[in-house]
Amino acid sequence: MSEARDLIDRARAAARHAHAPYSRFAVGAAVLLADGSVVTGANVENASYGLSLCAETVAIATVSAQGRLRDVVAIGVIGGMMDAAGRATGSDPVRPCGRCRQVINEAAQLSGRDVAVYCAGAEGDTIANYRLSQLLPDAFGPADLGIA
Ligand code: THU
Repeated sequence: MSEARDLIDRARAAARHAHAPYSRFAVGAAVLLADGSVVTGANVENASYGLSLCAETVAIATVSAQGRLRDVVAIGVIGGMMDAAGRATGSDPVRPCGRCRQVINEAAQLSGRDVAVYCAGAEGDTIANYRLSQLLPDAFGPADLGIA
């Protein structure tokens, strides 16, 4: 199985744990590390809506908590509206929001890799492939602060 397809499958599994009762939009993310291990996340909404956390940010924060920000190679992201049973639906690829692009950039610059970003919907075979530099060109990051 391809790296992209595997990460999208893992992100879809992660999205089942989305806590998204307000938007009813479930997002899952799966981060591939250099040793082949995968760390996942899902969005965590809050009754105080503005406190909600995106799936990609949850996944990258978990990677950081494991001391492995410099090991990030790629990330898969999926999302879709939940049906009545709570299952994410739709086949249009979901791309990381602006804040998440910046969060992924922290890992990208520290790892020295132009991280691959694979985007898909909750269903279907379409995967949109990017490098982070395409989604966030000329990024501000740790290198600007002398951290590499
Ligand atoms: N969301 C993510 O988890 N990642 C993104 O990149 C975009 C948006 C979440 C936040 C919120 O829980 C729901 O999707 C609707 O915006």
